[in-house]
Amino acid sequence: MLTTSFTCETPEETHQLGELIGRQARPGEIWCLSGSLGAGKTLFVKGLAQGLGFEGPVTSPTFTLQHIYEGRLNLYHFDWYRLTHPREVEDLGWFEWTGRGGVTAVEWGEKFPKLFPPSTLKLQFGILEGEGRRLTVEASHPESIPRVEEIIQCWPL
Ligand SMILES: Nc1ncnc2c1ncn2[C@@H]1O[C@H](COP(=O)(O)OP(=O)(O)O)[C@@H](O)[C@H]1O
Ligand SMILES: [Mg+2]
Repeated sequence: MLTTSFTCETPEETHQLGELIGRQARPGEIWCLSGSLGAGKTLFVKGLAQGLGFEGPVTSPTFTLQHIYEGRLNLYHFDWYRLTHPREVEDLGWFEWTGRGGVTAVEWGEKFPKLFPPSTLKLQFGILEGEGRRLTVEASHPESIPRVEEIIQCWPL
């Protein structure tokens, strides 16, 4: 297992980290995003979409549950905040979407951990004093550990 933390002092830095990860993202990559309301999950996904080459607006899927952004790879953006049972996620076509070779990012993903494959990259958003955020990434699969090492090589920018 590999765990490491990135400090993002400003909203711009959180966006930039998302963008970096989007530029490097591989087909099939899945990100489980956790952390309280306002921690920066949606902002991170805005950066992720931009890094994947999507140029339109990116908004929170809290009420719509899922957004799809077309870039170099498709980005499937979920938010499970309002869901109460993993069955609801499955009914949204979870296993079809994640098997399409795009990139998946799930806000409040920690609610249903069993739905994620072992190669999932977990990213936990902690709120520091002021505007700071600590983003802790965890990889526990031989496939995803080199991915985190790659990010460490490139961050801070
Ligand atoms: N370092 C930071 N990283 C991310 N967001 C920050 C940071 N500092 C302040 N913010 C603010 O916190 C809010 C995060 O909102 P959002 O990304 O929607 O959170 P979440 O999706 O986790 O509920 C935004 O208003 C953003 O400007
Ligand atoms: Mg959000």
